[in-house]
Amino acid sequence: MPQLHIFQDNPSFVRGAADFIDAHAAQAIAARGCFTLALAGGGTPKPIYARLATAEYRTRTDWTRAQIFFGDERCVPPDDARSNYRMAREAWFGPAALPAATIHRLRGEDDPARAALAYEQELAQLFRTQTFPAFDLILLGMGDNGHTASLFPGTAALRATTRWVVPQYVEVMQTWRVTFTAPLINAARSVAFLVEGAPKAQMVWNVLRGIYQPDVLPAQMIQPLNGELHWLVDAAAAEKIR
Ligand code: 6PG
Repeated sequence: MPQLHIFQDNPSFVRGAADFIDAHAAQAIAARGCFTLALAGGGTPKPIYARLATAEYRTRTDWTRAQIFFGDERCVPPDDARSNYRMAREAWFGPAALPAATIHRLRGEDDPARAALAYEQELAQLFRTQTFPAFDLILLGMGDNGHTASLFPGTAALRATTRWVVPQYVEVMQTWRVTFTAPLINAARSVAFLVEGAPKAQMVWNVLRGIYQPDVLPAQMIQPLNGELHWLVDAAAAEKIR
């Protein structure tokens, strides 16, 4: 069962999510000397990352012990306005002066299939494993059509069983993406959805309370095998499940 964290308004959602991430970092660093984190893209996480860049969090956690990846990326150059890397760099990495060695950018400017393979190799190198690596924390958003990362309804990426990272042409968006697969996400120690706003309330209900139809609602595929599943939502997005 997912652990639901409902925050009354946007400021407390942003603060609560930043504290949640920070707590996971402290726990992982204390236990294993390192914190492996995969970021969500899109717009929701931007103020959360910006909060993590403030002095309060910079001094609280030794971010030099983090290894930060991206759960998905748009197939655009890193300075493109659509780039998830650019969003995170502007909100967090730059203002917090995070060391470049802790950031593992997914090369959206490369051929999608090649970028996916290269990212898998980078993961295998860092985690020193050939089985699905277990991230300490994977952050996810959810689109209003029930997609998560770049796992979109009806796409081949939903059927990946052995791949860790795959390219996917997203017809509905007329664009290529590269994304973590559901099996990789489900290998994590902890997965947290970050969802806010009234427009997503029905989809939150569909995913959490509706019939199980993962090909239509890919967010339903996220069921960590041995890890924790968290949903961090504001009251507006939680309206229909309260
Ligand atoms: C992306 C994301 C995607 C996003 C959702 C929600 O690259 O766009 O990874 O899965 O999290 O579409 O996006 P918003 O937070 O902007 O609503």
